Amino acid sequence: MENFKINIENIYTFLSKETISKYASEMEKNNIVLNEKTGKGNDFLGWVKLPTSISADEISEMQATAGSFSKYEVVVVIGIGGSYLGAKSVIEALSNNFQQLVERKAPLVLFAGQNLSEDYMFELCDVLKTKSWAIVSISKSGTTTEPAVCFRILKKQMEEQFGKGETKQRIIAITDKSKGALRTLATKEGYKTYTIPDDVGGRFSVLTPVGLIPIAIAGFDIKKLVEGAVAMQRMCEPNVPFENNPAAIYAAARNALYKAGKNLEILVNYNPKLVYIAEWWKQLYGESEGKEGKGIFPASVTFTADLHSMGQYIQEGTRNIFETVISIKSTNHSVEIPHEESNLDQMNFIAGKSLDFVNKMAELGTVLAHVDGGVPNIQIELGKLNEFSIGQLLYFFEIACGISGYTLDVNPFDQPGVEAYKKNMFALLGKPGFEKETEAIKKRIE
Ligand code: PA5
Repeated sequence: MENFKINIENIYTFLSKETISKYASEMEKNNIVLNEKTGKGNDFLGWVKLPTSISADEISEMQATAGSFSKYEVVVVIGIGGSYLGAKSVIEALSNNFQQLVERKAPLVLFAGQNLSEDYMFELCDVLKTKSWAIVSISKSGTTTEPAVCFRILKKQMEEQFGKGETKQRIIAITDKSKGALRTLATKEGYKTYTIPDDVGGRFSVLTPVGLIPIAIAGFDIKKLVEGAVAMQRMCEPNVPFENNPAAIYAAARNALYKAGKNLEILVNYNPKLVYIAEWWKQLYGESEGKEGKGIFPASVTFTADLHSMGQYIQEGTRNIFETVISIKSTNHSVEIPHEESNLDQMNFIAGKSLDFVNKMAELGTVLAHVDGGVPNIQIELGKLNEFSIGQLLYFFEIACGISGYTLDVNPFDQPGVEAYKKNMFALLGKPGFEKETEAIKKRIE
């Protein structure tokens, strides 16, 4: 088992150890409720035991599908929210920072349907004109506007570029088992399809084909990713005592901090490859907990870059913040700072040190400064950045989110608030069935 550690020592300046240990029985209880599916939103708990339920055959089958797409230069993954952020976050975390410039062994995976920007779509269509490309279209409902419109545009271009017959071979649809336009079209056209389980909501779907197919197409080892998630599932099972269960500790710490007035959590990384892990985490926690006038606001920063922009606020702004730092113990590569005779930049005092050593000192110095400034700090340490540790991290955040949401006494598995903007947008666009809303909204904006 590679290292995965949670360290909450730096919250004890603000809260007593006793306060946290008082949460132990509640966390254990909430974990049982999750595992036994007896709590709120229990129709959507298929993800809790997902890692251990994925069979070797299922993984091999998905790897074979990914292999059959390796002949394309580009694969466009269409999806939004939970149907995109999981795959995007894992691919970014594992890819070369300069992936557009290095020799590729797998297709370049691009994402679309996660916005309505016309320029984005135009530029994507334009670059695809000269490429050999394929599509993975992901939508659980099969009716979401952004991916539906995007699929319509890209399918049309693909048919013009490669012909209707060939297009069918170049599309994978990942959707509900029977409902929705994408399923109907996939059946009619005979696309290769994967099913999103009924009991797994979008933001908890990264370990289903929603995440695994794009990640495998991008050339990463989904077997190791799932192994990491399995290892974490074992570490977080209800029979594991509170003090050994990292997810229970994290859920307790953030709920205790929330009760103490810290209602904004910043997920911090010191490696820009983790930017999209933070985006995925923001959806997971924001959509699961932000309801009924409750919930910690999830934000994120990349240090040291953002120490030069957001650092001032974090150090001295409104004191309602705590930080959760994702720290990576060992790097995958090493770079040494060279000695320079002239020493004009006065950096010779760190010559011979690795860049990661300097990064770690920046991390330590920042944690101490922020704690001194009134910002409690939780540290999550990964051994190395690879498929296994990312699998651990994803499952850790998911199960902690379930435990934490129940502690907040909300249903962590619905998202009723997401409908409000859609209703207005459909009214403004004059969608059939929204006539009353169209009339009302027109009066409002006249
Ligand atoms: O977490 C969620 O449920 C949402 O973010 C959905 O994944 C998102 O709205 C996309 O929905 P769909 O997959 O139905 O197109």
